[in-house]
Amino acid sequence: MDTVLSGIRSTGSLHLGNYFGAVKNFVKMQHENRCFFFVADYHSLTTHPKPENLQDSVRSVLSEYIASGLDPEVATLYVQSDVPEIPELYLLLNMNAYVGELQRTTTFKEKIRSQPDNVNAGLLTYPVLMCADIIIHNADKVPVGKDQEQNLEMARKFARRFNTMYGVEYFKMPEPYNFGDKLIKVPGLDGTGKMGKSEGNGIFLVDEPSVIRKKVMRAVTDAGPTKPNSKMSEPVKNLFYLLELLSTPDTVQFFREQYKNCTIRYGDLKKQLAEDMIAFTSPVRKRILDIYHDDDYLKKVVRMGAERARASASKTLRDVREIIGFKPF
Ligand code: ADP
Ligand code: TRP
Repeated sequence: MDTVLSGIRSTGSLHLGNYFGAVKNFVKMQHENRCFFFVADYHSLTTHPKPENLQDSVRSVLSEYIASGLDPEVATLYVQSDVPEIPELYLLLNMNAYVGELQRTTTFKEKIRSQPDNVNAGLLTYPVLMCADIIIHNADKVPVGKDQEQNLEMARKFARRFNTMYGVEYFKMPEPYNFGDKLIKVPGLDGTGKMGKSEGNGIFLVDEPSVIRKKVMRAVTDAGPTKPNSKMSEPVKNLFYLLELLSTPDTVQFFREQYKNCTIRYGDLKKQLAEDMIAFTSPVRKRILDIYHDDDYLKKVVRMGAERARASASKTLRDVREIIGFKPF
């Protein structure tokens, strides 16, 4: 059985792109692998969040993932800052990570550009912390998006370097996990190819029905088909893609026919899409809010997660310290 691990950014809410592109797969994977999912709150410190917001972000993220189907009884779901073995391994790995290679990382170069007034050492060593996150459980597979592939490559490099340096075969090489043919890209409603936080076009799981209706009704379309079987423009294709994701096959068929014979009214399609989106998100949204306000439950979840994560992490750290040469007097 493979060990699968992924870190979850503690900034921002889940949108339908995250759900269908990532979280849905996590939910499925948790039953087939030994899974670790954690909220990366140490990583978030690189952007200096306000103390009063720090825990609330973690609470939101946990609520959203559990409401979406991650089962804390099945997967190990924990908060990074509850596992002190991670920063200790990070310290040890930092000794063998070279400043030059860290400075050449694309994500670091992007940060220098996007936050020139806050180029802190945490940003520079971000890939080292990420490596510690991963190898502390000796993960085999790490599901990450395209933007994280270089960080994962660095994690492999640091793990391999440790093995070479001490002449051991201790760490496995963590591989990026690819959802294969099931990889889907959820489009935006603004005619762009991708729904995303930074694209500013997200439909969020916590959006209220009125917000969803407004967002969908504003979706970009075109002047409509003028002759039978005419080619679809990108924005209209996107609408149909979303309809396929969220509506019944009958509904999709109905609007496809209308498009073909040029009787389609995009307003009707949008209304239907909005209602089907709401039918999908409403129960999730309700669960998110219930979990978010259930202190006792969340306390239990993070305690259980930390316990399991620490059991695995402390074993790794014990071995690593011994390999490096730390010995009790
Ligand atoms: P965003 O692009 O909104 O900032 P993230 O980069 O935080 O989203 O995405 C986290 C994960 O969610 C990614 O690894 C990717 O697998 C998935 N994801 C994000 N947007 C989409 C999308 N539009 N379609 C499919 N998957 C997506
Ligand atoms: N850097 C990842 C992101 O921005 C989050 C993350 C932190 C992560 N540590 C990780 C992902 C370890 C995978 C494995 O999305």
